[in-house]
Amino acid sequence: EKYFLLPVLFSAPSYACKRRTTLKNHNTLLTEALSILAESAELNEDEGRGVAFRRAAAVLKCLPKAVSSMEQLRGLPCLGDHSMRVIKDILENGASSEAESTKQSERFKALKVLTGIFGVGAKTADRWFREGIHSLSQLQESGHTLNQAQQAGLQFYDDINLPVSKTEADAISEIVEKAVHAVLPGAEITLTGGFRRGKLTGHDVDFLITHPEEGKEEGLMPKVVSWLESQGFLLYQKTTRNSYLESKDGPGRPASNMDRFERCLSIFKLTKDRCVGQKQGTKQSATAVRVDLVVSPVSQFAFALLGWTGSKLFERELRRWAGHEKAMSLSSHALYDNKQSRYLRASSEEEIFAHLGLEYIPPTERNA
Ligand code: CTP
Ligand code: MN
Ligand code: MN
Ligand code: MN
Repeated sequence: EKYFLLPVLFSAPSYACKRRTTLKNHNTLLTEALSILAESAELNEDEGRGVAFRRAAAVLKCLPKAVSSMEQLRGLPCLGDHSMRVIKDILENGASSEAESTKQSERFKALKVLTGIFGVGAKTADRWFREGIHSLSQLQESGHTLNQAQQAGLQFYDDINLPVSKTEADAISEIVEKAVHAVLPGAEITLTGGFRRGKLTGHDVDFLITHPEEGKEEGLMPKVVSWLESQGFLLYQKTTRNSYLESKDGPGRPASNMDRFERCLSIFKLTKDRCVGQKQGTKQSATAVRVDLVVSPVSQFAFALLGWTGSKLFERELRRWAGHEKAMSLSSHALYDNKQSRYLRASSEEEIFAHLGLEYIPPTERNA
């Protein structure tokens, strides 16, 4: 008798918010190449192309095994012609020539360096690149006037571009908790972003702050910032006040994906104990860490928590699911049902998933 070994045929739902994506990725070679192409498209402000590559990478991230042949992919969604060519190249040659040449291109390298400056986006980086500015030293020599964020971004460039560890995130958590409790006892602080999804490193640390009594959280951010500043923890901060109520977004129609919470984008000074040698003992040194603080009224907390936990693609897919499949509008503030013409309340993430007709996906499985 003969046995034929059949290849595993993969399948997956086409919406990333219906898939469970942990940090265990069996296809890093494929997803890293597709992510480079996504990043390049985003740096060129080609959002559609960026999303297409992000979706393709995301569907490969949730597979239970490494892909070994093109045939296995037949049943998978989100893989367009271009992504399929990239995957084929890697399966046949061990690498994607397009991703490799993108990584090595002068433009990609320069835009990466320039957008590595806090406060510099794709538009500014592209303008500078076209003026012949390809490096930090060329930028400094150019005489361009930088805004406050960009000045801080340049000053703390090396630290900010180093990944933040979970240990550092925990140290920052303690400081933020101390600050918040000093100015508003009873307030609650939640770690969001990548660290809530179980990541061991991040590009920043994200926090959501609320108070169980609605309204008590009003005006909290300036007080927290003052406390942090008085203790010497802030190297830079920019606070934006809450503009939700005065916004003309209309029922469930946010003007953009940007939410309108009171927020603070900051750079913290973190003193760390760094062991410099067995005998010499411990030397104190400081590092700069990007920290995002957001304040939400408790009535919107579940939406804010869901919106600030990510991943970015998971969030995008949730909103697409809500709009296209449920005729609902989801934001970090609320969920609006366009058929019933009313807002749907929720006090937990579980309730929001239930309103959307989705199985609950815990944060550690939102790493799409
Ligand atoms: N977010 C947002 N509005 C912004 C910035 C971020 O709603 N202006 C949300 C993003 O959608 C994401 C979360 O906040 O869900 C965290 O964003 P970010 O810190 O950029 O990404 P992380 O997933 O935390 O990844 P990293 O580890 O690189 O920080
Ligand atoms: Mn150059
Ligand atoms: Mn983050
Ligand atoms: Mn952030």
